[in-house]
Amino acid sequence: MLDFKYYTPTKVVFGKGTESQVADLVKEFGGKKVLIHYGGGSVVRSGLLQRVKDTLDGAGVSYVELGGAVPNPHLGLVYEGIDLCKKEGVDFILAVGGGSAIDSAKAIGYGVANEGDVWDFYDYSRKPQACLPVGVILTIAATGSEMSDSSVITKEEGLIKRGCNSDLCRPKFAIMNPELTMTLPDYQTACGCTDIMMHTMERYFTNSGTMEITDALAEGLLRTVKKNAIILRDDPKNYDARAEVMWAGSLAHNGLTGCGSDGGDWMTHRLEHELGGLYDVAHGAGLAAIWGTWARYVYKECLPRFKKFAINVMDVEDKGTDEEIALRGIEAVEDFYRSIHMPTNLRELGVEPTEEELVTLAKKCSIAVGGAKGAAKVLHEEDMLAIYRASM
Ligand code: NZQ
Ligand code: ZN
Repeated sequence: MLDFKYYTPTKVVFGKGTESQVADLVKEFGGKKVLIHYGGGSVVRSGLLQRVKDTLDGAGVSYVELGGAVPNPHLGLVYEGIDLCKKEGVDFILAVGGGSAIDSAKAIGYGVANEGDVWDFYDYSRKPQACLPVGVILTIAATGSEMSDSSVITKEEGLIKRGCNSDLCRPKFAIMNPELTMTLPDYQTACGCTDIMMHTMERYFTNSGTMEITDALAEGLLRTVKKNAIILRDDPKNYDARAEVMWAGSLAHNGLTGCGSDGGDWMTHRLEHELGGLYDVAHGAGLAAIWGTWARYVYKECLPRFKKFAINVMDVEDKGTDEEIALRGIEAVEDFYRSIHMPTNLRELGVEPTEEELVTLAKKCSIAVGGAKGAAKVLHEEDMLAIYRASM
């Protein structure tokens, strides 16, 4: 096992009706003038936004609002939010929505609290020194951005999707009412479950040391999400299943399932981020489309972990050679994706890149990771290209 730091400062308020506590929480963390930031309108249609505004009005907390964060959120709206916050003297950002609204809120927070162009933090040329406090009311269980140190933004010019990681942006509080996720389209629920599992799988597939407790938490989380994803496919209004998945989403990406290891592989995410940037696909679906090909490309160099995963998570029988067991585990994951209507290749994702586009994807991915990356197997640009090609 390796030494580690574990930092999860987010206050979690979980359960039915918890959004009614939003004004108290904003005040607790010093917010006097709030930017309410949200996505494309689901929170307007559900009535959540109005309830939030009524609660803030009732508590005498003033606010301005900015909607329009799209999936794969855009830098242009981040700039707009920064200008609005500066003009209005905003000192707290409340994201109401999913990973896209939260990530956009974090980026606005960086842009207000630091001089210069906020994109510098996403193209790694500078590190942020501060961030306005961010609070969250979560409406989709997926990215874990409600507790994570990450914000992922797409620059429209060149369609470049990049993440910035820093403890500074970890939300002060996260309100999680599983009932708020019941209006999700089935596709987004399945995308969310895929992303949640992938955050823990990225950490799981590594050749560095690990800990028995970390593996047990990771395997338990993965089994729980796998089971409840099927329950939600058949019964989307099941509160308990919504709650299991929602809490799993936070634990999958707040660092808990990576303690004692090197942080994990993350190449499926990196390969997906290029697809999201170029083709604007849903993040979870993009991960599902690429994972099987990635896994077959790397499993031989991380065989003990693939075998353990197959047996402990995917219920593969401990029979045959290690390679056979590992491959049956990969097939079982793909069967699971199909069972929740997720794609297992690019064609099923609805994307058919030309050879030139495949080369561009691999080049951009290699630049984004600084040349090479991976903990199950280190991948270089030619490996990335081979995986994109094979995932057609
Ligand atoms: O925009 P609205 O109208 O709200 O609709 C959204 C959007 O169309 C809809 N939705 C959300 N909650 C809903 C709802 N519809 C009905 N009822 C509800 N309760 O669902 C769609 C997807 O929302 P979005 O916020 O885009 O989804 P998600 O949470 O999956 O976020 C995806 C983004 O987060 C990034 C992804 O790359 C992608 O850009 N990620 C962020 C991470 C982080 N910050 O830690 C880690 C992840 O690995 C990921 O990269
Ligand atoms: Zn993800």
